Amino acid sequence: EAELYTLYKGVYVPTLVHSPDSLKYYEEFTFRPDDVLIVTYPKSGTTWMQEIVPLIVSGGDPASVESLPNWDRVPWLEQNQACTLHLEQRASPRVFVTHFHYNMMPASFLEAKPKVIYVMRNPKDVFTSCFHFFGSTSFLVKPGPQSEFLHKFLNGDVMFGSWFDHVKDWLSAGSNERIMYISYEEMILDLKDSVSRMALFLEKPLDAEVIEKIADRCLFKNMKKNNMSNYSMVPREVIDQTKSGFLRKGIAGDWKNQLTKAEAEHFDAVYKDKMKNVNYKFVWE
Ligand code: PPS
Repeated sequence: EAELYTLYKGVYVPTLVHSPDSLKYYEEFTFRPDDVLIVTYPKSGTTWMQEIVPLIVSGGDPASVESLPNWDRVPWLEQNQACTLHLEQRASPRVFVTHFHYNMMPASFLEAKPKVIYVMRNPKDVFTSCFHFFGSTSFLVKPGPQSEFLHKFLNGDVMFGSWFDHVKDWLSAGSNERIMYISYEEMILDLKDSVSRMALFLEKPLDAEVIEKIADRCLFKNMKKNNMSNYSMVPREVIDQTKSGFLRKGIAGDWKNQLTKAEAEHFDAVYKDKMKNVNYKFVWE
């Protein structure tokens, strides 16, 4: 376990994809005010956003989603490959993702104040998605029995730490930063409306037909076929999609098929306690 994860600023990050150099690169990264940063706790809609946002900023032009892998098109700033992509030479608006907590943001982020889209997902579904994903990759600690993994997840003893801390930390940042909050569930309920709201936030007004085309491309069944977005280029030794597809189910509420009644009740009790001071109406509540 110690080797698979590196403890960075209090949370575990997977060592294979976050070298000390890549973490240092992020700390020293220079943001621009017109950058767009997508922030997610893992398994909350990152890959989906790596498809949606490039389509919005390009006015619906599919060139980048058809020709560039998602991790190149919208790189993770804290991961190894970021420092090889010459991001300082990219034209604005640049789009990035990060799984970092707000309190891990580098100095330049706080100064430049790029736009942030923060995507949240029902933590019981995040747990479910993590449980399947952690079991299919070589670079994460195996989940073990479900009850054990649930304990770890609720304690934040997993990659990128506690879901509760991540969400609370980013919600509290709203008054200082330019943040749009959206949830995976809202995107499932009405993808066209979600795309249209994101376009407004990004100051990229789009015609209704363009929004419709973008939403259609980003449907789970269509994205699953896009080899630039479905992780099919990652070798099976790293992500074994015969165990669990990266684009696995793409629905809201799959936790009902995963958690026992007792587990769901325990989850709800922990949630209620940890979220008691949070003043935000989540779609899943
Ligand atoms: S990661 O590893 O953090 O980048 O994973 P992330 O992309 O955040 O989360 C993966 C889950 O998102 C689902 N997904 C989608 N759902 C609906 N529509 C679209 N287009 C879509 N693309 C990805 C993916 O299936 C994972 O959820 P589960 O519940 O496991 O299916």
